[in-house]
Amino acid sequence: MSPTGESSAAVAADFVLRGASELVTMNAPPAEGLGAIAGGALAARYGVIVWVGREADLAQAVDLALDGIDADAEGHCVLPGFVDAHTHVPFAGSRAAEYGERLAGSSYGEILARSGGINVTVAATRRASEEELARLSSARYDSMLRHGTTTAEVKSGYGLTVADEAKQLRAAATPHALRRELTFLGAHLVPPEYAGHADDYVRLVCDEMIPACAPLARWCDVFCDEGAFTVEQARRVLSAGAAAALGLRIHADELARSGGSMLAAELGCASADHLMHATGEEIAAMKAAGVVAVLLPGTSYTLGVPFAPARAFLEAGVTVALASDFNPGSCNCENLQLMISLACQGMKLTPDEALYAATVGGAAALRRDDVGNLAVGKRCDFSVLVAESRTELPYHFGVNLVSDVVVGGRVVVRAGSVCRGSSAPEPTAVCARDAPPEAGGSR
Ligand code: NIG
Ligand code: FE
Repeated sequence: MSPTGESSAAVAADFVLRGASELVTMNAPPAEGLGAIAGGALAARYGVIVWVGREADLAQAVDLALDGIDADAEGHCVLPGFVDAHTHVPFAGSRAAEYGERLAGSSYGEILARSGGINVTVAATRRASEEELARLSSARYDSMLRHGTTTAEVKSGYGLTVADEAKQLRAAATPHALRRELTFLGAHLVPPEYAGHADDYVRLVCDEMIPACAPLARWCDVFCDEGAFTVEQARRVLSAGAAAALGLRIHADELARSGGSMLAAELGCASADHLMHATGEEIAAMKAAGVVAVLLPGTSYTLGVPFAPARAFLEAGVTVALASDFNPGSCNCENLQLMISLACQGMKLTPDEALYAATVGGAAALRRDDVGNLAVGKRCDFSVLVAESRTELPYHFGVNLVSDVVVGGRVVVRAGSVCRGSSAPEPTAVCARDAPPEAGGSR
């Protein structure tokens, strides 16, 4: 009732979700139960959430348009779409043979040093056309959506020429329902034609690639590690990225304790990623600078190396994001459900901590306040599990527990299949500089 005693008007909606066993809003931290509402429901209009509450209050609170969508979760758990803050999607070729070599005893670093690893993907990606890369990316985006990821950061980094980096970024931007944040990673590796001349390559990245690629991306990343780029080279690349108005992120302390996370703190990067070799010093510096720790348990699993010290990050008060690192070498897996499971086993996160890191944490790593949780004003992006409780997710592992996915109030995955044809979603724009949700824009 309003202060005048009249009934307050119901909120107009074009989308309603009911029938959830629990609606896990992520509006409270893990220690407070993630804001899960038993018997929760939500409503949206123009792709943005306008009401969240108990289904018992839905009819009175919401006025659904006659041609609106009335979706039923049929007694299953509903989660915000996962936000995967670290992927390398637009590549060509396979490195299955390298996986076998690693199992036989060669390390990732050794294979890289003898011109294998990333070099193999660079050669295949340079040979591929933009159309082929777009087709490959689109199929991978389908798979990500089917596993409940609705927003993903997507890096270049297998072109390593001005033209091939731009080609990868344009291919990554192929129209698709998955929301994307594109990242320029021209400083992924010194390409073979610059062997022994890393500083010349860094000059090419700063003076030519960044000006050409900045309009196609939101972020600039660099692989700062043993066998890739030094701290000084990474500082030059990221400074040039910042000068071109790109946000900053960094591959840091993955293969060795290489100074990358200290640089992230110095430059105020949005995130430092990998961090298997981070110690208390790096953790304290990241905390002080507000750098999000993007942790990638699938990479530790694939490379057979220790997991990042997730508990130490959490105990220090650093925001932790869980991401897939989907790429052809160190983690060929786009399924964040599996990363949640691995984070519980390998990093000793609680199931709720892992879920929070894969949603709210991912959004923080991408500096987005419109995705990652289910609240009024946020994008209507969620998935419906084939389970009543979120506790099934890390426990029932190695299978896809997502049946249906909604992006921007449109059903994009139904009963495990991506919707095509008339029910297919509008292509979404991919540049994060697009309009905010109030303007009805989709990014
Ligand atoms: O994040 N570490 C550098 N880049 C990727 C791996 C890329 C590849 O092996 O193709 C990573 O692990
Ligand atoms: Fe990576």
